[in-house]
Amino acid sequence: MPGADLDEYCAANQPRFVDELIEALRIPSISADPAHAADVRRNAEFFRDAALAAGFTTAELIETGGHPAVYAERMVDPSLPTVLIYGHHDVQPVDPLDEWLSPPFEAQVRDGNLYGRGAADDKGQVWMHLKAVEALLRTRGELPVNLKLIVEGEEESGSVNFESLIRQERGRLQADVLVVSDTAIVAAGTPSLCTGLRGLAGVEVHVRGPDVDLHSGLFGGAVANPIDALARILASLHDPVTGGITVPGFYNDVHDPTEEERELFGRLPYDDAAFRREAGGIPATVGEEGWSVPERRWARPTLEFNGIWGGYSGPGSKTIIPASASAKITCRLVPDQDPDDIARKVVAAVLAAAPPGVTVEAEGHPGGRPVVTPIDHPAVRAAARAMEHVFGKPPLLTREGGSIPPVEMFSRIMNLPAVIMGMGLPDDAIHSPNEKFSLDMYAKGVRVVAHLWDELSSLKTESLVSAREQ
Ligand code: BES
Ligand code: MN
Ligand code: MN
Repeated sequence: MPGADLDEYCAANQPRFVDELIEALRIPSISADPAHAADVRRNAEFFRDAALAAGFTTAELIETGGHPAVYAERMVDPSLPTVLIYGHHDVQPVDPLDEWLSPPFEAQVRDGNLYGRGAADDKGQVWMHLKAVEALLRTRGELPVNLKLIVEGEEESGSVNFESLIRQERGRLQADVLVVSDTAIVAAGTPSLCTGLRGLAGVEVHVRGPDVDLHSGLFGGAVANPIDALARILASLHDPVTGGITVPGFYNDVHDPTEEERELFGRLPYDDAAFRREAGGIPATVGEEGWSVPERRWARPTLEFNGIWGGYSGPGSKTIIPASASAKITCRLVPDQDPDDIARKVVAAVLAAAPPGVTVEAEGHPGGRPVVTPIDHPAVRAAARAMEHVFGKPPLLTREGGSIPPVEMFSRIMNLPAVIMGMGLPDDAIHSPNEKFSLDMYAKGVRVVAHLWDELSSLKTESLVSAREQ
């Protein structure tokens, strides 16, 4: 059976693969926190060295305006397809720390899972690719494709320097297909491939009233309250009946999923009780009229409040009219919504909803664009075969509600189609306390990746190129 030697090598070396990943998870590469800048750099060096050890022939840091990325390659034969792997080596902050059952940067195995920050998002999934390279080289002596690897250090803080990195390194990054493992499958026994990711747009709102906090007994009733004004503004952004977003023009560029896609989504197993459990024990799901829960999460745009502050929230009571109140808003976007355009429209809607007696300021923040990948692309079909080989059944096709802006950048700037093949599980708690990566998914992931290189190897480069030009 082809690949038996490979599967055997992976099984025999799995305990070491786990130990190595535990080492990689020790470095607190939190890109959002300037205090960890040196850790992010040290982490990049660690990944560079690991790429060389796995068998990449060159590996180096690429400097950016922010944290460094890692680039590695192993070019085998110009007539073989060239695959570019994208991942990220930075991680999310860890607070609240006291919710963690084991320290976030001292990863621990419990019940077949590895718990630690970055275990699934995304260090573990990058490590999967490194170990697939190692396994193929040790069992066969050479790779079946040309491989390039770019591991970013700023994904968790918005990939703000990545577009210029792509433009600058365009030549070196040239490839036939992009492969990204930074998402999850539908459920442990139900493999899936992701065919679309939402984009992101952000707005921050500040409402100002009096210069200073005022006594609410002396002034209340005659002075506008910034918290009340902010609450009204925020509440006006959704339609309470339909669940839709009221921002004028918000849906102008939204393309509905195709009938074929809606049909595929409808066939996916969806268990409301299980979903509510994954969502932290909520009593009911909510959302936009006319769309199923998977569609609301993957194919419809949203507007969310991420934080709100102002006034007094300490112990006891403090009878004031606060001087100000603020909120952070982000929208998840679907094709072809544009982050800057949406941020402008939200800012305009916020300003238009300002009640009298307060001053309202709102500013947009850089975001990322949504992306969909062609579901019938030969590389996506190759990935489906690789998954079927390892999971014993073919993957379902899904989309995800999260965002990985670089996937869209590679598509727009370099016309690179993406295989989005993540090995996380829905309950991995990425970005939350007690993030984990299933060791079974880790082991399967190494084999899926290695089999994917085999599958892609047998595709003619021309078929990948012509699929790209369609
Ligand atoms: N890996 C996630 C995105 C993800 C996770 C997509 C699971 C689909 C399923 C990524 O690291 C992430 O957290 N992205 C951010 C992007 C933002 C900072 C621009 C997000 O989605 O919030
Ligand atoms: Mn990620
Ligand atoms: Mn993330």
